[in-house]
Amino acid sequence: MENLISLVNKIQRACTALGDHGEASALPTLWDALPAIAVVGGQSSGKSSVLESIVGKDFLPRGSGIVTRRPLVLQLHKSDEGSREYAEFLHLPRKRFTDFAAVRKEIQDETDRETGRTKQISSVPIHLSIYSPNVVNLTLIDLPGLTKVAVEGQPDSIVQDIENMVRSYIEKPNCLILAISPANQDLATSDAIKISREVDPTGERTFGVLTKIDLMDKGTDAVDILEGKSYRMKFPWIGVVNRSQADINKNVDMIAARRREREYFANTPEYKHLAHRMGSEHLAKMLSKHLEVVIKSKIPGIQSLINKTIAELETELSRLGKPIAADAGGKLYTIMEICRLFDQNYREHLDGVRPGGDKV
Ligand code: GDP
Ligand code: NA
Ligand code: MG
Repeated sequence: MENLISLVNKIQRACTALGDHGEASALPTLWDALPAIAVVGGQSSGKSSVLESIVGKDFLPRGSGIVTRRPLVLQLHKSDEGSREYAEFLHLPRKRFTDFAAVRKEIQDETDRETGRTKQISSVPIHLSIYSPNVVNLTLIDLPGLTKVAVEGQPDSIVQDIENMVRSYIEKPNCLILAISPANQDLATSDAIKISREVDPTGERTFGVLTKIDLMDKGTDAVDILEGKSYRMKFPWIGVVNRSQADINKNVDMIAARRREREYFANTPEYKHLAHRMGSEHLAKMLSKHLEVVIKSKIPGIQSLINKTIAELETELSRLGKPIAADAGGKLYTIMEICRLFDQNYREHLDGVRPGGDKV
């Protein structure tokens, strides 16, 4: 299954590269069919922090106010034990980043290149891949936060613009939604819950994540929510404790932050009995598991799309005739090779499926 998820990641990347150049109209459909995980929620609810702790790396711009101003499509690729971690941007194809502080800087710079150093947002995504032995194979999407009012330097339309941008990602049936709500605000006012209910009314692809549990008012706790007694969702809520702004300023590292998060749940009397299903590591594991289930259930659909795409690419290739432009030809060839590989892999998995459709 590891293989399958990693192939899906590759196809998604290749399709997006092609889509960006507007060369093959069939491919966005294929992209749409593949699962990804997006974070949604109000500004400063902790979306970027949650993504960072799922990845286990410090690399995202975080902070108060509107920090995330373009969608970030992040692909995690699990590499062999012992191999060196690195990151690569689609817009800088041959540059390997091993310094994750430089990754954060490049996200900021690339955001500014599109929007200027303003509080404007852009719907043009930044694509980043991380290769590491310490991640699970996932595609994650960081999104700008939902807001209620425009601030100085922003057009009045920004509230609606952000909402539309967020919706365009999470309305896709294959997008799993991490609905991020801060525990120190009333859940009844949560933007994350509101918009995810709108696109996923039955909650079958929405995971509720409660951040800032450490910041709740004295005498209050989130036990009722985490136990599923109030604001019940299809999947149980997962509580997390991310780094505070003071921690970020002090450069508290990820390992220390995770240890502290574990200790927080294990040692707080109210949450002790829930500790085994709380925290960022549990969240990452659960998402990966769920993603596999989704991919398995989608395989026949992906298969038919791939068949269609291969046929269309072949038509496209013959229409273009040979020799074809080196650039376009190379990309199309890559896509076809990847699709074929995916196809073979799919057949292997099909062998494990009995005629009745039950998986062995
Ligand atoms: P985003 O705007 O939703 O992406 O939120 P960020 O991840 O940028 O976080 C906004 C601010 O909240 C940062 O200063 C974080 O340090 C802080 N923060 C996020 N989650 C938590 C948490 O669980 N506990 C505490 N104490 N602070 C948090
Ligand atoms: Na923020
Ligand atoms: Mg953010």
